Amino acid sequence: MTHPLIIAVDGPAASGKGTIAARLAQTYGLPHLDTGLLYRAVGMGLLDRGGALEDATLAGMVAGGLDVRDLRDSERLTSRGAGEAASRVAGYPGVRAALLEFQRSFAGQAGGAVLDGRDIGTVIAPKAVAKLFITATPEVRALRRWKQLTGRGEVIAYQDMLADIIRRDERDAGRGAAPMVQADDAVLLDTTDMDIETAFDAARRIVEAARVRHGL
Ligand code: C5P
Repeated sequence: MTHPLIIAVDGPAASGKGTIAARLAQTYGLPHLDTGLLYRAVGMGLLDRGGALEDATLAGMVAGGLDVRDLRDSERLTSRGAGEAASRVAGYPGVRAALLEFQRSFAGQAGGAVLDGRDIGTVIAPKAVAKLFITATPEVRALRRWKQLTGRGEVIAYQDMLADIIRRDERDAGRGAAPMVQADDAVLLDTTDMDIETAFDAARRIVEAARVRHGL
């Protein structure tokens, strides 16, 4: 029996992991799930209901009632505010538990899948064939995110973006529930000095090496 090709792509915000995951999915003809969107949809859903980001119980209920249609408004979900809300609700064990099954079944599809997030290689798909942990310095990540957001009209100063990135890293790595951490068997890819083509090429080579190891 051959393994399904599950590819786990983890790392901090604006490391390049989303673009790399999408391109890996395209290359291997696999479905792709950006798991950050789930947490973003929960954060925005909570605010839409007039809830406070401190309300772990309501956040868990929103997560339990999440519908894939809630993931459609990607412009709104990829805003700065949604990222901040996401990282607040992502610390609640009830939210993570409510989103676990959906992510596990997505990963378990026949033939495989590509998932990107913070805990894919550690919690969601610990048996993934290929695991990548994509990173870059906070300064470079802040610049990338700043260009992306200002390019579509959001008004934000670079220094504020950098502060956001650093605060989000600390929150994601420091929380008790499924903290952002590189899995023991993940390959580290630092994209600080790479353009996206170079980074994607490096990622593809990591996946190819993993496929060879697994006889796929
Ligand atoms: O990757 P993205 O910036 O869209 O993620 C938004 C937030 O969602 C992260 O800062 C993190 O707190 C949370 N998240 C998570 N686990 C994942 C994906 C995202 O905790 N697998």
